[in-house]
Amino acid sequence: MMDRFVIDGGRPLFGTVEASGSKNATLPLMAAAILAPGITEIEGAPRLADIDMMGQVMVSLGAEIRKDGRTISVDTTKLGGWEAPYDQVRKMRASFYVLGPLLAKFGRGRVSLPGGCALGPRPVDLHLKALEKLGCKIELDGGYVVASAEKLRGTRIVFDTSSVGATGNVMMAAVAAEGITTIENAAREPEIVDLADMLCKMGAQITGQGGAVIKIKGPTQLKAVNWKVIPDRIETGTFLIAVAACGGDVTITNARPDHLDIVIDKLIECGTEIEPTDDSIHIRMGKRPRPASIKTDIYPGFPTDLQAPWTSLMCLADGDSSVIETIYPERFNHVPELQRLGGSLRKELNSLHIRGVEQLKGAHVMCSDIRAGAGMVIATVAAKGKSDLLRVYHLDRGYESLEARFSSLGAKIARVKD
Ligand code: EPU
Repeated sequence: MMDRFVIDGGRPLFGTVEASGSKNATLPLMAAAILAPGITEIEGAPRLADIDMMGQVMVSLGAEIRKDGRTISVDTTKLGGWEAPYDQVRKMRASFYVLGPLLAKFGRGRVSLPGGCALGPRPVDLHLKALEKLGCKIELDGGYVVASAEKLRGTRIVFDTSSVGATGNVMMAAVAAEGITTIENAAREPEIVDLADMLCKMGAQITGQGGAVIKIKGPTQLKAVNWKVIPDRIETGTFLIAVAACGGDVTITNARPDHLDIVIDKLIECGTEIEPTDDSIHIRMGKRPRPASIKTDIYPGFPTDLQAPWTSLMCLADGDSSVIETIYPERFNHVPELQRLGGSLRKELNSLHIRGVEQLKGAHVMCSDIRAGAGMVIATVAAKGKSDLLRVYHLDRGYESLEARFSSLGAKIARVKD
């Protein structure tokens, strides 16, 4: 059964909406539970297909998962397995996060190689090279990465590309390594800071998170803790961009404006009025957006995960703009869908030239990945008339009841089960 959304667009958005906990922070926090025997409790976790998928990976390793509202408990008392099968990793690349913790815990791990992805090539070479430097032996066997280490040793790792996943995996392996591990050109994303902070609460000795050099002093024995996950900056950004596209007056609670500095600057450039507090963002928009060009970059640059939503907004801008994608140069599956709604976009290598039109018009369109899907929700909710948005299972991976939350802001959007 494939659900779709039926949207009758063209209405401004009003009201208050609460941002969920961060998906991309929760996923590695769940994997980190491998490092500490007992019950790790993650509070404020979003209720999403991807989180359930990580739960299944943990269950196949012998963990028990319990959910109580938005709290996920990962009980690793009986952890025994050290393999993440193809069937799980191919559905969600973030399953690869278990490799570092498995190496720390058992000195070995067998994790399927992720394979292709809708965003274009997404290799794991940086993860593997860094783990080798920590003293791991890595072999490839039948599509699986088989890693083993008699002893992990602290070392200096210099990433030539800053990678969220590789930084997280190495941090989790390095807590068990003897001596000091230094990660240079480390990812500075808030999700990595959240992971490092939880590891510290568990007993790890990590410094420098949030900067380009992270140091981990090991080995440490970790204990299970309770942790409240940070708000989802991409979900928050998605709602903000939706208000910029549709017009209206919305407050987003459980938000961290300090994780969205560049996005907020760009929204102001478009003509929105924004008032941030420590934990909320109020946005107002009463006119057609002005054009504002973006270039995606690693944090604190403009997030690639908001590139598709921003592209939808620029389709409605009062002028021309460009979008340059530097993280995933092939992440443009939303472009032909936006053209179906009347968007005027031209793709050239890794960039888009967008000529804003006064109105988009409803049509049948589809989601091709989580964030392209979010871009399509924004475009169809802003477009005049009726749209059918297909393949919303992509959205369910990363956004909790998106249709209900847009409805609560006055959008006409309903889920239909075919
Ligand atoms: N890269 C390599 N080799 C590697 C790892 C990465 O070349 O071994 C390259 C990638 O191809 C990419 C760049 O490095 O060009 C950055 O990738 P990164 O490793 O930082 O991405 P990731 O950890 O696989 C996370 C998010 C993505 C988000 C990216 C970039 C999670 C679970 N996923 O992926 O989120 O787009 O960082 O910010 O945290 C999503 O939520 O929809 C999503 C795709």
